[in-house]
Amino acid sequence: MCVCRQVPFARLLPMARAGGWDVDGIARATGCGAGCGLCRPYLRRMLATGETEFRELLTESRDG
Ligand code: FES
Repeated sequence: MCVCRQVPFARLLPMARAGGWDVDGIARATGCGAGCGLCRPYLRRMLATGETEFRELLTESRDG
């Protein structure tokens, strides 16, 4: 989940799909990704693959 906003990815994914949001769109609409930013690589992966559960540690290194 986005810890800053206390929103689970499983809730964000359908909203993002319905709204056609990219990561910045999610941040604008919900504030998720606009706080500490640590969830942004997870949001990016979620949009790309549809995953909402992550067992790996993702970092910003390859995230815009
Ligand atoms: S965890 Fe999403 S902005 Fe901090």
